[in-house]
Amino acid sequence: MAGIYIHIPFCSQFCVYCDFYSTSMLGKRDAYADAVIKEIEFRSLDIKKSGKERNLVKTIYFGGGTPSVMSSVQLKQILDAVKANFTLVQSNGAGMQGFPEITIEVNPDDVTRDYAMKLKNAGFNRVSLGVQSFVDDHLRWMNRRHDSEKAKNAYRLLRDAGFCNISIDLIFGFEGLSMDQWRGNISTATDLAPEHISCYQLGIEKNTRLYKDYLSGSYEPLPDSGSYEQYSMLQQMLFAKGYIQYEVSSFCLPGKESRHNSSYWDFTPYYGLGPAAHSFDGNVREWNNKGINKYITGWKQGVRHFNKEQLTMENRFNEFVMLSLRTVKGMDLALVDGYLKGFPGGFIDKLERLAYTGDLVKEGGFARIPSHKLFVSDAIIRELFV
Ligand SMILES: C[S@@+](CC[C@H](N)C(=O)[O-])C[C@H]1O[C@@H](n2cnc3c(N)ncnc32)[C@H](O)[C@@H]1O
Ligand code: SF4
Repeated sequence: MAGIYIHIPFCSQFCVYCDFYSTSMLGKRDAYADAVIKEIEFRSLDIKKSGKERNLVKTIYFGGGTPSVMSSVQLKQILDAVKANFTLVQSNGAGMQGFPEITIEVNPDDVTRDYAMKLKNAGFNRVSLGVQSFVDDHLRWMNRRHDSEKAKNAYRLLRDAGFCNISIDLIFGFEGLSMDQWRGNISTATDLAPEHISCYQLGIEKNTRLYKDYLSGSYEPLPDSGSYEQYSMLQQMLFAKGYIQYEVSSFCLPGKESRHNSSYWDFTPYYGLGPAAHSFDGNVREWNNKGINKYITGWKQGVRHFNKEQLTMENRFNEFVMLSLRTVKGMDLALVDGYLKGFPGGFIDKLERLAYTGDLVKEGGFARIPSHKLFVSDAIIRELFV
């Protein structure tokens, strides 16, 4: 079984920190919908031809860019094409028994009562709402289109439309976010009681406005100690409100894990469609080229512009270590045994050393990073790379 990711590469305004592939050429939305539907048909045939049972799909995720700048009609056409060309399977996944999980990322200022209803009727059953902060000064600095009131209102409209699985994205770890403001953001989020909360530490990515400001000295990053304090506060406050953490950046009410994201971490194959989208089947990684014009003209001629890479045994192992140790459940040691047959020794020694220093906890056949060290998970994981 697999997950499908559809990239919607449009934004009407760009946030200072974001380097996801996206264009402001909104006039291309219709042509894009046609092109992505062609890709859906082509990729489905390709997968069927390979004779694999991976035409079975258990999660669909529309991400961006900003999927909510597309009309509900365009989104429904794309979703219907996925349903017509892939076999959606019922899954016993947490909290959503019997339904494939179909998520759409939505920006708060695109949500009206009518649009929320139309998204529900189109077949989406999970929404990820990009709030980022409930402080208007932060939102202005980030160059978001919404303010705090709009974010809260969008949430209510989505609930009124019948969405019973909503996730909120927040960002922490930036200069200008005080501990009091962060406490306020977390409480406002938990007062709304979404099923899921994703919290990302602000990353300074190349090719962003934030990066330029950082280089010129006009943005000074928050020291790691400050981000760590915010992360610890987040863990404590969400835990007190009944949320469980299941991955470095992901928290949910019991049973409401994102099944789509979880499948990235447990190596369920996924197909990414649209420019810049990645696909992975456990061995081969493919990525569609960036560039909306080339994408649209390519699909007019039935040509897919993409690159691929066969992962070496070492790369696969490192990927496995990285993805599984970002989860709270951790790394299945039985799977490690299988991988290690092909490698020189040394990995187990490193594992034991990290367990000795308390950077890893070994129990129940898994090795995991303890909660208070998840903030520095990247550094711990790097130590284990072969
Ligand atoms: C790429 S956006 C797409 C969804 C939607 N357009 C939005 O902005 O909410 C998905 C999420 O990535 C996160 N994100 C993007 N760039 C980031 C960065 N540099 N650091 C931390 N989080 C980031 C934001 O929280 C955002 O909600
Ligand atoms: S964070 Fe979302 S809205 Fe902002 S530029 Fe990135 S994709 Fe667009």
